[in-house]
Amino acid sequence: MRPELSRHMKRFCSTLALALLGVSLGSCSPAAPLAMGPASGVKTTTNTNYRTPPVKGAVPRNPDAPFSNQFGQGAGVTFTRVPVAGPYIAITFDDGPHATFTPRLLDMLRERNIKATFFVCGNNCELYPNILRRIVAEGHELGNHSYNHPVLAKMSEEQVRSQLSRTHQAVLNATGVNMHLLRPPYGAFTPAQREWALREFGYPTILWSVDPLDWKKPGSSVITSRITSQTTQGGIILAHDIHGQTIDAMPATLDALLRKGYRFVTVSQLIAMKTQAAPQNPAAAPAAPGAPAQAATAP
Ligand code: NI
Repeated sequence: MRPELSRHMKRFCSTLALALLGVSLGSCSPAAPLAMGPASGVKTTTNTNYRTPPVKGAVPRNPDAPFSNQFGQGAGVTFTRVPVAGPYIAITFDDGPHATFTPRLLDMLRERNIKATFFVCGNNCELYPNILRRIVAEGHELGNHSYNHPVLAKMSEEQVRSQLSRTHQAVLNATGVNMHLLRPPYGAFTPAQREWALREFGYPTILWSVDPLDWKKPGSSVITSRITSQTTQGGIILAHDIHGQTIDAMPATLDALLRKGYRFVTVSQLIAMKTQAAPQNPAAAPAAPGAPAQAATAP
């Protein structure tokens, strides 16, 4: 089923809709997204004793609301980073949601009042609609990462349309949210496909400027050091919430970036604050040391 174009273009994010929409289960494929690359043989450091604490009380929806998430189709077709005037960055998590890793990650983000962007696969959305709803309720953004993680660049237009539409609809069914972003699996999407996705779905193609290669499971401390050393102002960080090492790396990673003065926004917020011209020196260091970090607790 293909959602109407007009629906893609509207910002429909009312949490009220969450209560009205049913759970979409049953038509899903249980297949996990394709594993990327060879297994490294490195043991994961996942703490299997971890239990997600229950969510107590209402979580304010996006307490950093002064940041608009509205951007037009003229903002751009493809983004690997966004030229912005302040120490803003976006961290993104692909391939989920995952039954246990994503809730653990959400706890970590909530503790730090950090808003992230989750590029989700439609098959996992159908498996875990409640996790999707929690992602939305806690102010994060959802983006389309295809239905079951194929190489879209090798598919026909009709096949790509099916991949994107099924995922768009799965998220809409579970959360009431119309997504506005696309991250093609493996970043594999031709220039013509990118133009088409923007025309047909209103999706800019979101790539990344920081890649810790966390899917190779290099160890949590390596993931942390790669992200913190590569991140610069306006950067888009690629990570995956289906790997235990990535989740284990997040407390130290997030705290290090906060200490450097970075402020986390969603990808749509980052695009909406795009400056007209690229900065003189895009590789320049971000905020001065000692710049106020993002509030550690939600208002
Ligand atoms: Ni992926």
